[in-house]
Amino acid sequence: SKSVWLDCDTGHDDALAILIAARSPDLRLLGISTVYGNAPLEKTTYNTRAVLQAIGRTDVPVYPGASGPLEREACFAPGIHGETGLDGTTCLPKPTVEAKTDMSAIDAMYRALSAQPAGTAWLVAVGTLTNVAKLFDKYPDLAEHISGLSVMGGCIGEGFTDAPLGTIQAGDGAQDRCGNWTPFAEFNIYCDPEAAQQIFSNPTLSRKATLIPLDLTHQFLATNRVQLGLLFGFDMQMHTEPTMNDVSAVRRLFFEILTFFAKTYAEMFGLTAGPPTHDPLAVAVALRPELFYCNGRGSADGLQNERFTIDIITEGEHGPAVENGRTASQCGRTVANGLVAGTDGVRIPRG
Ligand code: BDR
Ligand code: CA
Repeated sequence: SKSVWLDCDTGHDDALAILIAARSPDLRLLGISTVYGNAPLEKTTYNTRAVLQAIGRTDVPVYPGASGPLEREACFAPGIHGETGLDGTTCLPKPTVEAKTDMSAIDAMYRALSAQPAGTAWLVAVGTLTNVAKLFDKYPDLAEHISGLSVMGGCIGEGFTDAPLGTIQAGDGAQDRCGNWTPFAEFNIYCDPEAAQQIFSNPTLSRKATLIPLDLTHQFLATNRVQLGLLFGFDMQMHTEPTMNDVSAVRRLFFEILTFFAKTYAEMFGLTAGPPTHDPLAVAVALRPELFYCNGRGSADGLQNERFTIDIITEGEHGPAVENGRTASQCGRTVANGLVAGTDGVRIPRG
């Protein structure tokens, strides 16, 4: 099985990423580092420990990492994930195992990843990129050693770029927007654009990185069918009527996680078909990299893997992207060079 280290800011979709990373027979989860993001660091760390408790993996070490970005003020997402970062759950157990403090998260990541044979271990980052930037800053040789870096973040959509900015607002429907935090920027990249830029401007890392942007995650919605499948099992016979009594606490927990996430996505973005499964897709890259490919527009029939460099716009303050109908800040925008991007740019072949 493949070794992975997960870096996350445990909210709802991070919990699904943990589930796959920790319970997939083909993955060996070396450890988890936590980062501020969906909620402050203490909360994302608590949530991580609680989810591991729920899924019977208290043996996985949890290391608290950064509580704020490299240079900016921290931002959080209570509108999507609630004040705790994992609101809406009634079956979340109290964690019995403390977070590790014997070394820093950065040192723990380095120790675990560098102990694997060269070219085998994956680092999967599904929160803000502060820990990851610090890791490769302190241990630059690690970039050569790992097999891959999978990052959930950014958006490469072209939909919004020519549209009058004032017309792009939450609630307009996902197809008109690129970012989910500002019209330009996705949350994970927006929170610490300097960290993201450090990573994507590193030639070794950018060669090994797979970016899972909103363009892709919005093609994988946790629809009602998926939510019920998690609750009752995907092989549920439609003629039987399962009741809540038949359902384990773990299934119930993940059902609650998805339904809360669905509710806030509907409220905040008007996306009623179901919430995007952002973070678990980044784990899927490490699990089955061959399912992912990247192709330029117009070459959809060929399964060719083209690679693109990613630039992160770091100019501009954290603040409204649109003020009085004018562009205020493009901070956190991800620009893919050479790719005329849209949802055709990055996708998983179906079937
Ligand atoms: C990303 O932001 C967070 O709210 C989610 O957990 C995901 O990692 C999506 O933009
Ligand atoms: Ca996340």
